[in-house]
Amino acid sequence: AVALRVGLLGFGTVGSSFAEVLAATGADVRITRIFNRDVERKKSHERAKFVGAEVKWTSDATEVVTAEDVDVVVEVIGGLEPIEGWLTTAIHAGKHIVTANKQLIAYRGATLLALAAEKKVHLLYNAAVAGGVPVIPGITQGLSGDKITRISGILNGTCNFILSAMEKGAEYADVLKTAQSLGYAEANPSADVDGFDARAKLCVLSRLALRAELNPDEVPAQTISTVAAIDFAYAKELGCTLRQVSRAEVAGGKVHARVGPMLVPKEMPIAWSHDTQNMVVTSGEFGGDVVFSGHGAGGHPTAVAVTSDVLRIAAGAAAVRFPATASSVDGDVTAPHYIR
Ligand code: HSE
Repeated sequence: AVALRVGLLGFGTVGSSFAEVLAATGADVRITRIFNRDVERKKSHERAKFVGAEVKWTSDATEVVTAEDVDVVVEVIGGLEPIEGWLTTAIHAGKHIVTANKQLIAYRGATLLALAAEKKVHLLYNAAVAGGVPVIPGITQGLSGDKITRISGILNGTCNFILSAMEKGAEYADVLKTAQSLGYAEANPSADVDGFDARAKLCVLSRLALRAELNPDEVPAQTISTVAAIDFAYAKELGCTLRQVSRAEVAGGKVHARVGPMLVPKEMPIAWSHDTQNMVVTSGEFGGDVVFSGHGAGGHPTAVAVTSDVLRIAAGAAAVRFPATASSVDGDVTAPHYIR
């Protein structure tokens, strides 16, 4: 028997990448069921080869969330409904949950986390914020000893892709199309450019880092769709560039949060972020600033975060067998390269 059996909800960019990344770990974890609306099309997906032939495909999600042969439900579809209902059913059925769903965790996280605690199952969502960048484990594990007073940074890969390309002279509409075709943008790109995606992520981080339960709808979000070439020209004169920045800070016993295009001085690390790079700077009362950065969107980076959550559950569930690491090293060990 395998150590852990996964029921996967969604076989799109992230779901199919998860199948590939999970297979590459060689871990003793198997995907036993996959839900997708269009099963026939997905069965012939180029990444379907990473799932064992014995997997059961279904277009009925209820066949996954309560299935006997599922220990962990991995959800990579997104949105509040019908996902909240499915995952609630899964938790009641004693399944662990791994999700990349930022809206769900931002709006309904408090309720779902309380239910998961009551039912003694894991609910992990490393992939919900900053894709492949482990900001959440960084805050909840690595920085739990500090008192974080501010989080700021870049939480939307699509906006960063657009603005960093515009900085080099590209046209807004052209780059947005490219971001969509590469699978970075949300189904409705308004969620990206108008700041709703970043604001949900900011609320998830605020709960963990600032211990503040914010209603995403109350966090001001300003669109980047009105940013024009001329704005970059003026920004440059001020020694700045423009980025979509998300920021939440505790001051005077209140949390001040907002998302939108902001002038960023060229010498700040945030100004150096390009493409889909996300960056989060946490400011701790005792430990000072910590910077997290890396790919915030895209199938593979996001799938790494999902896979890491699944492996964390697997490690607690049973002894997970990995192939011996020594056997995966081949070729000669080369001399180090010296940088002069
Ligand atoms: N559309 C999101 C982004 C995907 O561009 O950052 C990752 O959450």
